[in-house]
Order: sequence, then structure tokens, then C-alpha cells
Amino acid sequence: MRASLTEPHDPGFAVYIHWPFCRAKCPYCDFNSHVRKVVDHRCWREALLDELNHFAQQTQGRQVTSLFFGGGTPSLMEPETTAAVIERTAALWSMAPDAEITLEANPTSIESERLIDFRAAGVNRLSLGVQSLDDQALRFLGRQHSAREALQALDTAADIFKRVSFDLIYALPGQRVCDWVEQLHRALTWERGHMSVYQLMIEPGTAFNTRHLRGELSLPCVNDSAALYEATQEILSDAGLPAYEVSNHARLGQACRHNITTWRHGDYVGVGPGAHGRLISGGRLVATSQQKVPEAWLSLVEKQGHGTRESTPITGEALRDEMFLMGLRLTDGVRRSDLQRRLGRDVEELIQPERLDSLLDAEFIVVDEIGIRTTPAGRLRLDSVTAALLV
Ligand SMILES: C[S@@+](CC[C@H](N)C(=O)[O-])C[C@H]1O[C@@H](n2cnc3c(N)ncnc32)[C@H](O)[C@@H]1O
Ligand code: SF4
Repeated sequence: MRASLTEPHDPGFAVYIHWPFCRAKCPYCDFNSHVRKVVDHRCWREALLDELNHFAQQTQGRQVTSLFFGGGTPSLMEPETTAAVIERTAALWSMAPDAEITLEANPTSIESERLIDFRAAGVNRLSLGVQSLDDQALRFLGRQHSAREALQALDTAADIFKRVSFDLIYALPGQRVCDWVEQLHRALTWERGHMSVYQLMIEPGTAFNTRHLRGELSLPCVNDSAALYEATQEILSDAGLPAYEVSNHARLGQACRHNITTWRHGDYVGVGPGAHGRLISGGRLVATSQQKVPEAWLSLVEKQGHGTRESTPITGEALRDEMFLMGLRLTDGVRRSDLQRRLGRDVEELIQPERLDSLLDAEFIVVDEIGIRTTPAGRLRLDSVTAALLV
């Protein structure tokens, strides 16, 4: 059997908490993030705890293997809120002894000062949004921190947390492969076992999209993007951090358990504005999504104990498509055992043989006793490979 980067364990049971507030809105970002002058932290704490109670009633008896505070900017939460959420999660479900508890943080100096308080609250893994080590690029990305502050935050984080990850964005307008390669080598001197490295995407509804439509932003062409991507894969693999997912790289055993649960279609509860979940409720697999607007979510929770906007059963082809769309992002691909768990069927029963054959002939996929995964050439054109399998 191949050495797995993502460990062949059960996909686990995860809890996701969305903190929707940021200091400023970055021009590239389409996450559910909002800028507010005042946040009533006590109300928000109570509402998050109430929604946890609500989901716990539907998922009794599970053991939480990961808890993830995402955003927005969760490092703007009061550490007291983080502690209360961790404590309540452990009281409502049981907590695995090695549960991963991650918090996303922005590396401004004010937030760095509070990292020690998040550790005391129970967080054991930090994910820092460094984005770039170049001040000019950080200004272009609308970030509120300098490269120096980001490196100081990485040092502080490494002193406090056993597990630290950081995010970088590349394929910026005009970025040359040699400049990115130099930056990536520099970034590697700070790595602590996990890095998320994203190509800049122009998302609808963002300020960058407006500028892009006006012709003010030109992204690297397809060939340049591919060269940047391939250089990234090679450098990080050689450094001992191969990709375990399209944009996520880790040393063996350091993959983010929370990510693995969601990409392997394990069960997860999503709490907070705009959060999504996949869980077995009343014997059925349901996809949940919460009201996105922070104030509307808060008043729904105050009224009815939860801010669920939709809770829809997910079955058949929709479930198959979702499992392949997410699972093929993983280097380990979609496991037969996960398809059996969710759908009670195997790869060959779910995908037409002629579709599998043409992608096997083109050497874009591998199908074996473990499951189905892409080759490096297949990963480079993941969207078209997935479309060819599923359409
Ligand atoms: C929810 S955000 C991060 C949390 C934190 N607020 C921050 O900004 O550091 C998760 C990550 O997604 C990445 N990201 C967000 N929008 C992106 C885009 N349009 N293109 C590429 N990466 C993006 C960034 O690297 C970001 O750190
Ligand atoms: S990238 Fe992070 S800090 Fe910037 S708007 Fe999005 S969530 Fe907020």
C-alpha cells in the first residue's frame, strides 16, 4: 500500500465555528467576512453556544476529532469566547484525547499579543494568514500587516503552539517565477510542518473582480500559472512538504485533520453565520447552511436557538458529485471505503466505465484497491478531469 499523507483513519467528526468579522475587507476575499465598528462579544458568545447546543441534540454520541475556528478573523474573538466554545464542545460531545483545535489568525501585532491567551483557551494549532513576505504585495492585497509583523507572528506562534501553519497567495499580477521561487524558499525557513499555498483567484463580487472587469488587473496567463504551480509543487515536495490537497502541503502526519474530515465527506457541524455542515440527522444525511448576514443570524439564534437557513437531505447523484469534487482535491483521492460508507457503492458502480477508461488511458487518474486519485498531470487539469468523470 502507498504511504498515505492523510492517514487511513476514520474521517472523524468535526465542528466548525465561523467568526464573521474582520478589521478590513481584503479586495480579493469572498469569504463571509464583514467589518463592524462594534461587536457585542457577550451576545456572540451566547449565540455560538446556543447553536452548538442545537447541533449537539442531533449528533449525540459522537466524538469530536477536530474543532476549527475559521473566518473572517477568529483571532479578533475574545479568547474568553474561544475558551467557552471549546469547553461547551467538550461537554456536549466527547472530545478525542488528541483532538485538533485550530484557530485562524491574522498576523497583525495586536492579534499576536493575544496568541498566548488562545493557547490558554485550549487552541493547539494555529493557522496564520501571512499571504506574502513582500510588503508591496501585501499592500496590493490590502493586508493590515507588514512582512516583518508576519514573520514576528510566526516566531511568536512557534514558541506557543506545537502545530503552526501559514497561508501564502501567489500568481499575483506580474509575479515572475524566479521571484516566487525566491519567496517560497524564504518562507520555508519558517515552516512548522504545514503550509497552505493558494493561487490568487478573482472571485465574483470582490473589489478585485471589479478591477479585473475594468481591465486594471491582469493575472498570469495559463502557461505562467502552470509554471508557478509546478515550481511550487517541486520546491515544497523537495523540502518534505508534498501536497496532500491542491493547495495544502504538509510533512507526514501534519495534514490538517479538519480539512481531511470535510474533503473525505466525514460528518461535520457548522456553527455561526454562513457555516455549512454535513451530518446524519434523523437517520438521513443532511447538508446544513446557516444564515449568512451576521445580524440576521444573531437574531434567529436569539429567537429559535439556531440560525439554520437550509437543512436538506443529500443523496444519489448530488452526493456522488460532491464526494468526487471534494475527494479528488486530495492527493490520496476518493477512497472506496468512504464511498461505501456514504453511498454503499463502489467506484465502478458510480462512474461509467468508458469515462474511467478514457481518463486512465490519458494517465490523468489511477484506480486501484484503495480508490481513485489523480496523477500529477491530472491534478494540473483537475476541473476538466472531474467534469469528464461526472457529467
Ligand atoms: C478565511 S481566509 C483567512 C483567514 C484570515 N482572515 C486571513 O485573512 O488570514 C483563508 C485563506 O484563504 C485564502 N484566500 C482567500 N481568498 C482568496 C482568493 N481570492 N485567492 C486565493 N486565496 C484566497 C487566503 O490565503 C486566506 O488566508
Ligand atoms: S482574507 Fe481574511 S482578513 Fe481578509 S477579508 Fe477575508 S477573511 Fe477577512
